[in-house]
Amino acid sequence: MKILSGVQSSGRLHLGNYFGAIRQFVQLQEKGDAFYFIANLHSLTSVQDPKLLREYTLEAAVAYLALGLDPDRATLFRQSDVPEHSELFWILGSQIPLSHLERAHSYKDKIQKGLKPNFGLFSYPVLMAADILLYAADLVPVGKDQRQHVEFARDWAISFNQLYCPGYDPADPNGEKNGKPGIFRVPDALIQPEMATLLGVDGQKMSKSYNNTIDLFAPDKVIQKAIMGIKTDSAGIADPKPTEGSAVYCLLKALAPVEEMAKWTESFERGGEGYGVYKKRLLELFHETFDPARARREELLKDPGEVERILAKGAAKAREVASAQMDTVKRAVGLK
Ligand code: TYM
Repeated sequence: MKILSGVQSSGRLHLGNYFGAIRQFVQLQEKGDAFYFIANLHSLTSVQDPKLLREYTLEAAVAYLALGLDPDRATLFRQSDVPEHSELFWILGSQIPLSHLERAHSYKDKIQKGLKPNFGLFSYPVLMAADILLYAADLVPVGKDQRQHVEFARDWAISFNQLYCPGYDPADPNGEKNGKPGIFRVPDALIQPEMATLLGVDGQKMSKSYNNTIDLFAPDKVIQKAIMGIKTDSAGIADPKPTEGSAVYCLLKALAPVEEMAKWTESFERGGEGYGVYKKRLLELFHETFDPARARREELLKDPGEVERILAKGAAKAREVASAQMDTVKRAVGLK
C-alpha cells in the first residue's frame, strides 16, 4: 500500500496539523510505503519572503522528525526538490475544466477571508493532484478541509485515464476486474472522523490563515496565553456547558485519554466546573503530550546539516518514482 501526504511550509505547525494529519502519518509509516513531503511550492502562494519560506521549510522538516516520522521507514522530501510535480501540474492543468476550480471550497473560503487571490492559489488543487498522482498513492491521510482536493484528484485521474488509456473503464477505476488500471491510480482520502476539524482559539477551524492557532512548538508562555485565552461562552460555573462548537471541549477531546475525556464530558453536561479548570488541564495535557517532541526539535535544530541530508536522500528516492511516472505520462500524451 502506498501512502502520500504533505503539509505546507507557510507558518508554524499547529495542533490541527498534528491531530488532523501528522499523527496519522506517523501511524501509517508502519503500514506501507509512505511518502511525506513539505509542500513549499504550495506555500509560495502565501509566503513571499524568501528567508521566511526557507525557515518554515526547515521548521516543517524538523517538526515531522520531532513528531515521530522515521526517515528510514518513510520517504521525507521537499516538494521543490522533485521538479516532476510542476511538470505534471501543467499536463493535468491542460485537461481540467475551469469550472472545477471555480467550485473549490478552500479557494472560495480564502477569498472570503480577504486573502489576495493569485493564480497559484486558484490552481492549487491541480498541483495537489499532481503531488498525489505522481506516486500512485492508494491513501492520502488529511484533515477534512482537504477532502474536496483529494476528490478532485480522483476525478481528474479517472478523466485522464479515460482520455489516454484505451480500454480503461471508469466503473473499474483501478482496473481490478478488467486488468486495465490506467496510468493514474485513483486515490482515497483517509480522514479521522473524530479529528476531522480541530477548532482554534476563536471557535472556528484552527488555521494559520485565521490566526487562531495553538502552535506545537511556540515558547511555553505563548502556549499558556493561547490556551488560557480560548474563547468561551458566558456560562457560569454551575451551568451546564455546550460541547458542540466549543473549542475547549474539542481540544480536550483531542488531547485527553478516552477514560479521562468521559469525565470531562460528564462535567460539561452537568455543570459545576468553570472553564478555567478545563483550560488548566488542557495546558497540562499539551505539555504532557508534546514536551518530548519539543525537546527533540531543539536537538534537531542544532544540526540542520543532518536534516538537509535526510531531505536530500528523500528527494532522490522520490525522484526515482516520480520520474518513472512522468516518463509514462509524457509518452501517453505525446510529449515523448
Ligand atoms: P495544510 O498545510 O493546510 O495542512 C496540513 C494538514 O493538516 C490538516 N489540518 C487540519 N486537520 C484538522 N483540523 C484542522 N483545524 C486542520 N488544519 C489543518 C490539513 O487537512 C492537512 O491534512 N494542500 C495541503 C497540503 C498538500 C497536500 C498535498 C496534502 C499539498 N499537496 C498532497 C495531501 C496530498 C494543505 O494546504 O495542508
